Amino acid sequence: MSKKTYSPYGIISERLKELYIELDKISIDKHLLLQLNSCISLSEGVESYMEKNTSPESDNLADLSKSTINHDWDSALEMKKSSGFLGSQMLCGHVEGQFLKILTKITKAKKILEIGMFSGYSALAMVESLPKDGELYTCEFNPYAVKFAQETFDKLKEKRIKIKSGPALETLKKLSVKRIVFDLVFIDATKSQYPEYLDMIIDNSLINKNSLVCIDNTFLQGKVFSEFEKKSSSSKIMKKFNSDIAKNPKFHTVMLPLRDGFTLLKLND
Ligand SMILES: C[S@@+](CC[C@H](N)C(=O)[O-])C[C@H]1O[C@@H](n2cnc3c(N)ncnc32)[C@H](O)[C@@H]1O
Repeated sequence: MSKKTYSPYGIISERLKELYIELDKISIDKHLLLQLNSCISLSEGVESYMEKNTSPESDNLADLSKSTINHDWDSALEMKKSSGFLGSQMLCGHVEGQFLKILTKITKAKKILEIGMFSGYSALAMVESLPKDGELYTCEFNPYAVKFAQETFDKLKEKRIKIKSGPALETLKKLSVKRIVFDLVFIDATKSQYPEYLDMIIDNSLINKNSLVCIDNTFLQGKVFSEFEKKSSSSKIMKKFNSDIAKNPKFHTVMLPLRDGFTLLKLND
């Protein structure tokens, strides 16, 4: 089983390959086909080249990636073992995992908050840079994903990852009572709830001026910027969220073309 990609690069190369097959069937100038092939090569090359030139995953991360990709998530849903859709395309993957790991190191984070855990890959990547007395709280509402990840963390004797089972907004409310300030936050759960996650984090002082917030899937497969992509309620919310945070003078934001879009946010002084 292979990992599906929802990044614009992956979508572009899939569509160009389909176009190539169709154009190859009719008599078309070979020079145009060659041009198209060069576009396929460029679009296909970006992510695989990034992966080849990024530090390798640890054995633990490689094993977790493999077991997530090989797991039959669809059957779990059909057999009502899983309470919602889960799929291997949810994995942030090798390059983003290493990016989160290096950000954890640069920020010298000791307390991390993750919103959206799935099989535990991004949590495990960040925890690899966490000091021994550090803690990573991760929110997940699907009991099937919680069980899958907890088994991996137990097998690795990884006690610094605290899974907070249940809806993220409720968990954030509970965490605010504990008065924890997180050095690093990774937002990767329900896309339409991103504005609420960020508001709740800020309103409850779960971050301060030194904290870094990482926000995943801000491209939403290109739906936020391409007029040709089918819109959804989530994409409309994400589009407004992206522009609101970029315009807000309280924040310093940078959007990066990593996988499906990755935004960094800090509170301004
Ligand atoms: C994209 S996946 C996370 C992937 C993970 N961060 C990684 O890169 O390996 C999103 C996860 O968030 C969970 N989720 C979605 N909405 C949630 C919510 N409101 N509260 C808690 N978990 C949620 C989903 O069940 C899913 O497992």
